[in-house]
Amino acid sequence: MSDSEHALPQPTASYEADPEQVGRVLLLYSGGLDTSVMLKWIQERYGAEVVTLTVNLGQPGEDYGVIEEKARRLGALECRTVDAREDFARDFLTPAIKANALYGDGYPLFTALGRPLIAKLAVEHARASGCDTIAHGCTGKGNDQVRIEATIATLAPELGVIAPVRSWQMGREEEVAYAREHGIPVKGGTEVAPYSIDTNLWGRSSEGRWIEDLDHAPEEDVFQLVTPPERAPDQAQVVSIEFERGVPVALDGERMGLVELLEAAAQIGQRHGVGIVDHIEDRIVGLKVRDIYEVPAATLILTAHKELERLVGTIHQNRFKLALDEQWAYLVYAGLWWEPLRGDIDAYMNAVNEQVSGTIGVKLYKGSARVVTRSSPNAVYDASLATFSESGGLFSQSASPGFIELFSLQSKMAWRLRNSQ
Ligand code: ARG
Repeated sequence: MSDSEHALPQPTASYEADPEQVGRVLLLYSGGLDTSVMLKWIQERYGAEVVTLTVNLGQPGEDYGVIEEKARRLGALECRTVDAREDFARDFLTPAIKANALYGDGYPLFTALGRPLIAKLAVEHARASGCDTIAHGCTGKGNDQVRIEATIATLAPELGVIAPVRSWQMGREEEVAYAREHGIPVKGGTEVAPYSIDTNLWGRSSEGRWIEDLDHAPEEDVFQLVTPPERAPDQAQVVSIEFERGVPVALDGERMGLVELLEAAAQIGQRHGVGIVDHIEDRIVGLKVRDIYEVPAATLILTAHKELERLVGTIHQNRFKLALDEQWAYLVYAGLWWEPLRGDIDAYMNAVNEQVSGTIGVKLYKGSARVVTRSSPNAVYDASLATFSESGGLFSQSASPGFIELFSLQSKMAWRLRNSQ
């Protein structure tokens, strides 16, 4: 390799590894092209040992045995896979559900929620296996580098970080050539880069190729999870989702653990074409980017949760919470999972969600998910007070004019002042 004489990058930030000090590297390994090339490249360039860690967050159809075998063949000293689905659901998705977490009005943050967990596991395994450095496959243009590196720098200031994709200056062609030279199998054609995919229990994203042309409507091959709504069943389906204290606990009356429930919700949603989001987002690193998201589970669960929460909250709580939800989503999107403000906000989310128990029925039909039924013992609702009910109950209609008089007082005064000449 002619570029093998290129100097290794010198650190800019305090948490970046000094190339001289890199002896054993924990590589976050997906089994894809970038991290496979990286596995070899780190051994070759740094003369370092590599330990790999692959994290299962519920990406469908992944064969972890095959990934570990591949890592071993490429010279990894140790290869580990961690099934972190339960932790992900309990510690990351549960707070996200309580916060109705959506960034930019459409992105349920599945990647943003996964990264701090992946990085935390990397720290634990790096320490346990005597590594001095953590390597990841994020590019220099995305949010994921921020999320992973901020986590490592926060939790393990003694560990260094390297991000080879940011510095090695290989395009896809060079990477494929490097892979061929080093006996790394390359999936798919060499010429057409595949979509860049990230996926877990809470959703799937695709980036790259035609998605970067903003006026290019989605090509069908991008949808690997959700049935295009045009081809979804003609028969609608109503699914009922039961919550206890803000957490979904049963689907159509059947109680199940959260991981299982989210997998089942995804299955039902995707069958009905639910959860396609074509999204332009403001990245934390300045760029705007278009993503195609497939988020069937998140769409179902968040639609139901939001509805139930509004039913049990007062008008004041509901208005206040919208602002907190938005703040929470921004912090998590921005990679600041460990920021104390996030925990502070969670305390409020938990307090509000103490009341969020009940059942919501959602009707799924060709891409839409619409709430059709609601019930909760904590609903701040009394059918006897409803608009067309005969009985007065607590509500006295004769008190209304007095309320209107006082409620509109300042507005009336200001109107008169501004319109008096
Ligand atoms: N745009 C989303 C985010 O910033 C999804 C990123 C997907 N990551 C990936 N490596 N393809 O969270």
